[in-house]
Amino acid sequence: MNELVSPVIGLSTALGAKYMSGFGNTFETEALPGALPVGRNSPQKVNYGLYAEQLSGSPFTAPQATNQRSWLYRIRASVRHTGRFERHDDGLIRTAPQRESALPIGPLRWGPTPIPSEKLTFVTGLRTMTTAGDCETHAGMAAHVALITESMVREHMFNADGEFLIVAQQNSLRFRTEFGTIEIEPGEVCVIPRGVIFRVELINGPARAYVCENYGGGFTLPDRGPIGANCLANARDFLAPVASYEDVDAPHTLIVKWGGELYSTQVPHSPIDVVAWHGNYYPYKYDLRRFSPVGAISFDHPDPSIFTVMTSPSETPGTANIDFVIFPERWAVAENTFRPPWYHRNIMSEFMGLVYGVYDAKPEGFVPGGMSLHNQMLPHGPDTDAFNHASNVELKPVKLTNTLAFMFETRFRQRVTKYAAELDSLQDNYIDCWTGLSKNFNPNRREPG
Ligand SMILES: [Fe+2]
Repeated sequence: MNELVSPVIGLSTALGAKYMSGFGNTFETEALPGALPVGRNSPQKVNYGLYAEQLSGSPFTAPQATNQRSWLYRIRASVRHTGRFERHDDGLIRTAPQRESALPIGPLRWGPTPIPSEKLTFVTGLRTMTTAGDCETHAGMAAHVALITESMVREHMFNADGEFLIVAQQNSLRFRTEFGTIEIEPGEVCVIPRGVIFRVELINGPARAYVCENYGGGFTLPDRGPIGANCLANARDFLAPVASYEDVDAPHTLIVKWGGELYSTQVPHSPIDVVAWHGNYYPYKYDLRRFSPVGAISFDHPDPSIFTVMTSPSETPGTANIDFVIFPERWAVAENTFRPPWYHRNIMSEFMGLVYGVYDAKPEGFVPGGMSLHNQMLPHGPDTDAFNHASNVELKPVKLTNTLAFMFETRFRQRVTKYAAELDSLQDNYIDCWTGLSKNFNPNRREPG
């Protein structure tokens, strides 16, 4: 057994895994010297007796800017990491389209889902909260929460339905992937592209994470327009793993999510056997605390799109399949301005979570590990306390510290699953947080200035 051979290149991070820096770059990495063919992809014989194999993340003929593929040099062709498939228990994983809940429309909010004591892996612990669009047409998303109490052991999965964006919320996670190892802690995210084989291990105890499953085009960096070349999420802060492999001959299970259903197959060896790879289709991580926010420095509250970390574009320019948006630490300095997010109704639907801290529009009730859903065209905004405070507070510069909220925003309406609708943590009284917004109208009152 030659497990997790240390490569000679790469950046070190606090958790120990090694990475290469840059978003969307073409990388090359090898865990054994000379494992990568030079100047060609598929020589007649590959060094070390490896198999050459391409993984395509886009159609072969996709335009250059969106063409994604990697070449993997592995101990066995991945067709040998699958055998006959069987249907596998879907657990609480759901896929769009689904309409299994009869819950009426309305703004919804959930408290944190407790991490149970039962044994749950990333697969059995994945609970779908909402689905949107249609997986079969490569459009839409699902929002899940992952409650993980044990590592996957000799068990892996890949998702043919979409890519996973995992937002660590409580404790750290290690992703052993075909491409190498990625570790994330709360404040960081990991993206596992469609089709990439991985397993999830715990690092420092039971973990909770938010997961966005993106059925559409892969996440990419948003256009910045007049903002220019810098700030927001900078390309250099995205990290791809260096190659590392296992040569393990022992029974393994591979679980595949395909067409909204899980299947499994048994094989006598580990599929994490890629000794070298090159290309631009691979898993990666990003530390959300490196996001450089841009905001109002004079007056008014800008649209939340200025906080977009990554976007999954649709065929319609400016209309995202998903925007992944965060609300990080920042200064609030706008003058003569109602500083929290404004009241609004939105053609997009918004699934939010709180990694840590306090969210400025909902200082009560929206707590770390919790979730909210403000669906297409349904009104929402700051609660009564936030409105009263923000309407009367002295507007000196304020640092919003120790806070990290995020939003999965999609062009499609989000359908709540039966699991989400029946959770004990669903707050029946959420709508009441706005009932204190009294009528202040007075036709004779004009504000000074
Ligand atoms: Fe909103």
